[in-house]
Amino acid sequence: MTNEERRPHRLLVTGGAGFIGSNFTRYWCDRYPEDRVVVLDALTYAGNRDNLSGLEDRSNFRFVRGDICDRALVDSLLAEEQIDTVAHFAAESHVDRSILGPGAFIQTNVVGTFTLLEAFRHHYNTLETGRFLHVSTDEVYGSLEPNDPAFSETTPYAPNSPYSASKAGSDHLARAYYHTYQLPTLITNCSNNYGAYHFPEKLIPLMCINILLGKPLPVYGDGQNVRDWLYVVDHCSALDTVIHRGKPGETYNVGGNNEVKNIDLVRMLCGLMDEMASDLPVRPSESLITFVKDRPGHDRRYAIDATKIKTELGWQPSVTVEEGLRKTVEWYLTHQDWWKPLLSDEYQAYYAKVYGG
Ligand code: NAD
Ligand code: TYD
Repeated sequence: MTNEERRPHRLLVTGGAGFIGSNFTRYWCDRYPEDRVVVLDALTYAGNRDNLSGLEDRSNFRFVRGDICDRALVDSLLAEEQIDTVAHFAAESHVDRSILGPGAFIQTNVVGTFTLLEAFRHHYNTLETGRFLHVSTDEVYGSLEPNDPAFSETTPYAPNSPYSASKAGSDHLARAYYHTYQLPTLITNCSNNYGAYHFPEKLIPLMCINILLGKPLPVYGDGQNVRDWLYVVDHCSALDTVIHRGKPGETYNVGGNNEVKNIDLVRMLCGLMDEMASDLPVRPSESLITFVKDRPGHDRRYAIDATKIKTELGWQPSVTVEEGLRKTVEWYLTHQDWWKPLLSDEYQAYYAKVYGG
């Protein structure tokens, strides 16, 4: 389908001021400028309006600060904006924070998703067509042994952290709303993303920032845990594909075919920083690597089998981990004015709780 043949959409993007949501909003507004895009975001510690800079002046873009658990607000936005497509990113998303305080994860990820689904169920009666895309994670499948096959869409759920358990609960609700109410829900379970606008608490930005500040690089446990890394723009193109071509009621796994051990990833980042940054406080950056106490319940390995989205919908990633990491390091080097204000007192207090202060 060419853009000329396509009917314009009216999107509600929840969590659009966060890492993936803002990359998705930017991607969508660039690609489909005729669409209406409304971002609903509570601006928690992880949400940042600067992530949407450059979009807010567009006439068919609107930002609304609010909570996805607020049913009256969600009802009024769906009706007033005649939303036909929900792209649901809003969540508490950091495993370490879910260990310190799981309550917010249950509230936003489970109750918030339920609130959106209920609101969309009632609103859906007024539409000719619609879609509810529920953006989820591979962490719902639990942990793999070194030789296990990668997660497929039929792998049983076995979440091990309060974060992944809350995402699993929300996935089950999205699935149930299709089977019970024929709501056209689509679920994507994606591997670890990285790229621009990634909040400093996550592995890749944390390492980039600590290298630039000359601080220790905390690697949990023995550093042999494996993650399957996907460049965030590739995730956005997968979600675009699922919204346009996915079959309601289906789940699609999304991954980058880039399994890397944490310690190897950190060493790659050190090498890139040594090469690309002109004035580092400590060189070589690898000398900053420090093994620290492991995360409780730390999943050993994640890997995604993305055969279904490739064969049924024709999507595949386009950015290799080497290219994506280089772009990301470049971004953190040139956007110090973005990340420095995020190292707030609240962030320092969180950092001290997790890493010791
Ligand atoms: P993030 O933490 O960077 O952003 C979450 C956004 O949601 C923030 O802008 C925050 O303000 C907003 N938010 C939180 N609670 C809210 C509420 N109650 N109401 C409205 N807005 C609220 O997260 P992210 O990394 O961008 O992840 C987005 C989604 O993608 C999540 O659902 C996550 O589970 C999923 N996911 C993330 C990854 C990853 O590697 N980051 C991988 C796969 C799936
Ligand atoms: P993270 O970015 O928190 O993503 P997730 O836990 O959702 O996969 O962490 C990625 C991997 O890096 C994970 O195995 C935990 C590890 N890690 C560290 O070793 N040190 C750190 O400081 C952080 C934040 C993560």
